[in-house]
Amino acid sequence: MIYLDNNATTPLDPAVADKMCWFLREHFGNPSSLYPIGRAVKNIVNEARDTVARALGASRTEIIFTGSGTEADNFAIRGVLDTYPEKNEVITSAIEHPAVLRVGNYLEKKGIKVSYAPVDEFGLVDLSFIRDAITPRTALVSIMHANNEIGTIQPIEEIVKLSHDKGVLVHTDAVQTFGKLDFTVEKLGVDLLSISAHKIYGPKGVGALFVRKGIDICPFIHGGHQERGLRAGTENTIGIVGFGEAVRLLMERGKRDKERIARLADSLKKGIEEKIPKAMFNGHPEKRVKNTLNFSFPGLEAEAILLALATKEIYVSTGSACSEESEDVSHVLLAIGLRPEVARSSIRISLGRFNTEENVHVVLKELPEIIEKLRQISAFDPEE
Ligand SMILES: Cc1ncc(COP(=O)(O)O)c(C=O)c1O
Repeated sequence: MIYLDNNATTPLDPAVADKMCWFLREHFGNPSSLYPIGRAVKNIVNEARDTVARALGASRTEIIFTGSGTEADNFAIRGVLDTYPEKNEVITSAIEHPAVLRVGNYLEKKGIKVSYAPVDEFGLVDLSFIRDAITPRTALVSIMHANNEIGTIQPIEEIVKLSHDKGVLVHTDAVQTFGKLDFTVEKLGVDLLSISAHKIYGPKGVGALFVRKGIDICPFIHGGHQERGLRAGTENTIGIVGFGEAVRLLMERGKRDKERIARLADSLKKGIEEKIPKAMFNGHPEKRVKNTLNFSFPGLEAEAILLALATKEIYVSTGSACSEESEDVSHVLLAIGLRPEVARSSIRISLGRFNTEENVHVVLKELPEIIEKLRQISAFDPEE
């Protein structure tokens, strides 16, 4: 099989699986227990926390493990709003992942004013909209680092500057950039940042929220003292161990992986543009995460392309994994100005660590043939 849906999830790296198996067999203690088998697990969890912190340029106490990237996003936004009850406005963007957008929709029903910054044709947010939308009642600006569907990278440093100038905190959803771009929380300047393990060859069901030292945030889950009392509940120790190992591997092989994936993705992009007439690339020409390729094939249905590729055991996506089952047209593609029928003809190809040149070669043979066949039966006219 050729797996090209790495933005939806990544395969578990075998080294991560080994570490998790070792931990499962050897350690069952509760990290809150004071006797040795509990202390041992607490130490292992804290090693993973140190590793995540180091990779982000943060310190251990700034990392809170969560149940997913989605939870980290919910935690950041709701946690900050709860901390400042006198503030009742949030600013985000029109192209956020549902993990942020739907929190916005929920908050609106609760009487919070949520402003959604529009984006241009490449998916870059309108900075002047954010600047104008900030008021003394703004609790938080939450803008994703890069988009999961088209890969466009937002100017987070500038967003931080204009928000901090007005005393407003900034959160970024870095689920699609952690492990793909070089950054630290210091460089970005953000106050809160979300990441997720299963996008970096780690296990599903574990994420983390960075909360800068000195920032007040209300607990997200009430109960015991775990995660500094901010996210109660006995830790997902096995998931956290896997997350730590996945991050350790990122740091060990990150640069090599990034360059190789970028090279493969570039040759795939070039090949598609050369071999398929009227293939339309979506996203920013430069400011984008290189592994992500989003193409529209006007006149066709993305699902037909996806299913035809799947019969060849080539797996891509029609948009974000979370919207796959809904009838909705991608809100991201609509926001960059695509007509709904063009948005519906778009597929996302996202490469990862385990893709090879041979994979690219096969896709460049199969995809043009599939598009050609589908166009014949749909009476597509490339000259139109
Ligand atoms: C940008 C972005 N944010 C958040 C999430 C949610 O992460 P998780 O699957 O860990 O809940 C995803 C997953 O697709 C994502 O791409």
